[in-house]
Amino acid sequence: MTLVRTSKISISLLKLKSNVLLNLINETKNVVDFDFEGIHKWFNDDIIHQLSKIRYCIMQEDDVLYRRIFWLAFAEIVRLSNNSQKSTFKLHIKNKNVIDNFQYDCIKNFSKQLERDISSFENLYKSFSIKNNAKVYLGDTIKVMSDKRKFKDSSVDLIVTSPPYGDNHTTVTYGQFSILPLRWIDINDIDPNINVSILKTLTEIDNESLGGTNYSIDKIYKSEILDKSKTLSSTFEALIKADEKIKARKVASFYIDFYDSCIQLSRILKKDKYAIFTIGNRRVNGEIVRFDLILSELLATLNLKRIYNFDRNIPSKRIPSKISRLKDNKPVYSIQTEITLIFRKY
Ligand SMILES: C[S@@+](CC[C@H](N)C(=O)[O-])C[C@H]1O[C@@H](n2cnc3c(N)ncnc32)[C@H](O)[C@@H]1O
Repeated sequence: MTLVRTSKISISLLKLKSNVLLNLINETKNVVDFDFEGIHKWFNDDIIHQLSKIRYCIMQEDDVLYRRIFWLAFAEIVRLSNNSQKSTFKLHIKNKNVIDNFQYDCIKNFSKQLERDISSFENLYKSFSIKNNAKVYLGDTIKVMSDKRKFKDSSVDLIVTSPPYGDNHTTVTYGQFSILPLRWIDINDIDPNINVSILKTLTEIDNESLGGTNYSIDKIYKSEILDKSKTLSSTFEALIKADEKIKARKVASFYIDFYDSCIQLSRILKKDKYAIFTIGNRRVNGEIVRFDLILSELLATLNLKRIYNFDRNIPSKRIPSKISRLKDNKPVYSIQTEITLIFRKY
């Protein structure tokens, strides 16, 4: 998505190429069905047939910049046509009888999605001039930023980031949410250097994300993360007291990884420049985890002072508002408001 949004394209050429693609899809008769492990669980045969045809036709486009735009529209159709329930981010298979009766016109919806994407490009280009000089890095933020040749000390003027609010497994499973479209797309068109082992299981991306590994209580104490934030420390101790050791470990493990990424952010930011974080306060065990306070306390140990913050309601959420259920069967609502905090390096 970032590659698509930061590459300058010609809208008239995009319209032309889209018409060529849609005509090709209509004219193409027999395409060998695409295959990957688990495809028949997540997609009905008729859907596999339609998606295989769109995929094959996208691959006939010569210019990767335009192929990527087509993959993006295609990814949305893969999301809408699969057999996972749409009420959760996690991959939960629908009931058999719902699957058996599921009908979806991938080709018609792909064409509509492409139209929406073209008009969103038109709107984007009305407000911004895209200069084609953005460099997009893909990978674990800690590893990417630790490369001191690419990210020198005190070299960055502005940081704008929207980190996850907790570990992916128990907050938002971004990995599971995106794995099926990723399996359909030609990964070389995103980056030929992607380590494809992250696509092997449905949960690997979530394991690799911040907080994906649950550290031991011993490691958590030794990391000294609890000494860096009194709010985190009291959240952690309250969970331990409530006999929720696993939840306590999950919360602290996330902040250990998150803090490692903040060390790099602070290292590369120039003095007197700004870092802007948009975050949300999630609930764990029915209690709000004050990420806004924890963030300010953690960053204060890294020469970053909070100077301003404001809240907003999340404008258009395509994701469900109910995301999981507690043991007592009460729904846990996903975050509907976000907080933006602005820090200055001193
Ligand atoms: C709140 S979302 C923000 C996404 C995007 N910036 C946006 O505004 O729509 C947080 C994102 O961070 C990703 N993430 C989690 N751990 C990461 C890591 N170690 N390196 C890079 N990204 C990570 C998640 O998968 C998720 O896509």
